[in-house]
Amino acid sequence: MKSTVVNILETKKSYNIYVGSDFIQDRIAYYLERDSFFVLDAKVASLYRNIIPQDSKRVFLFQGGEKNKTLLSTEKILTFLKNNGALRDSTLVSIGGGITGDTAAFAASLYMRGIKLVQVPTTLLAMVDSSVGGKTGVNLKGIKNNIGTFYQPSEVLIDSYFLNSLTNKEYLNGFAEAIKIAAVQDEEYFDYLEDNISYILARKKHVMENLILKACQLKASVVEQDEKESGIRKLLNFGHTVAHGIESDSAYKVHHGYAVAMGMVYESMYALKHGYTDEKTFNKIKDLLVKLGYPVAYKPKNMENMLAISKDKKACKEGIALAVAGKNMQGVIINNVKPKEIIDLF
Ligand SMILES: NC(=O)c1ccc[n+]([C@@H]2O[C@H](COP(=O)([O-])OP(=O)(O)OC[C@H]3O[C@@H](n4cnc5c(N)ncnc54)[C@H](O)[C@@H]3O)[C@@H](O)[C@H]2O)c1
Repeated sequence: MKSTVVNILETKKSYNIYVGSDFIQDRIAYYLERDSFFVLDAKVASLYRNIIPQDSKRVFLFQGGEKNKTLLSTEKILTFLKNNGALRDSTLVSIGGGITGDTAAFAASLYMRGIKLVQVPTTLLAMVDSSVGGKTGVNLKGIKNNIGTFYQPSEVLIDSYFLNSLTNKEYLNGFAEAIKIAAVQDEEYFDYLEDNISYILARKKHVMENLILKACQLKASVVEQDEKESGIRKLLNFGHTVAHGIESDSAYKVHHGYAVAMGMVYESMYALKHGYTDEKTFNKIKDLLVKLGYPVAYKPKNMENMLAISKDKKACKEGIALAVAGKNMQGVIINNVKPKEIIDLF
């Protein structure tokens, strides 16, 4: 098993991220013997009956989906904790994808003003992205992640065993976030992804564990410096501004990772047009996405919907802040970009 440490500079809090295979059962047994409660994705519960507890006093079964990433679900988790005697020094263990993780973490940050949180991500997206960094939250009136907190876990346990049961669609959905992290931070890591495409598609354990650990380290290096996203953490939004437009136009029928893949292409087109990146970087990103089978072009149904781009949380009066992959995969934040200039690329 490999591990890495996240040191949040501002709060001086640190925690470990463990990446390995077939170790999760022991860690779950460890938490079962202690004062711990579990929020468990219902699908994961049915797939992994052998390793995950089903005791109704300790386990809150969470029916996932964005429609359940709500204040109501948060309240249900909080009520479950209260009814079953959780105290300030109890631990909440979240087992599931990003939706379970974000909702459970939000509840953990609120219960008695915050109890210990352990993240056990079971989707690739959650392993390379959402379980690390402490962003928690739920949707409000259809607006994604509109309310939430910054609340770091006390540890993250990533077992590659869970990757085996993901559909190809869910797998690629998550992999887009690893490409994003590489494209704005580390060309060597990007080249590693490129060189290992066949192993990645075959879900080879040792490659996936290296790749997940590196993605977590890269994300941690940003979060450590800028936990609350006032500066460098904005780089992790590469591809996401346009993705919001595509998701909104498609009424969320296009999966997030696929929208991010297309978003990376359109945002790179913008960067190329305005001299923030070069042809080599643009082509490397697009070629890798094509080789992995992502769509790289999108035809909006209604251009008005694409204006969701301007409703980006990072928007201000002068325009939006666009994170792009600059030359040699060095991330750049371009300020005051007019949404129309991006929409005109479609
Ligand atoms: N907090 C953050 O920093 C951050 C970052 C990126 C994304 N997110 C959030 O993450 C969410 C998306 O996460 P997601 O893509 O993991 O979605 P998800 O949690 O809905 O999981 C996707 C699907 O996979 C199923 N699943 C989970 N683990 C499985 C397994 N091992 N085998 C088979 N099926 C499994 C789930 O039941 C679900 O149907 C979004 O709400 C997004 O806002 C948060």
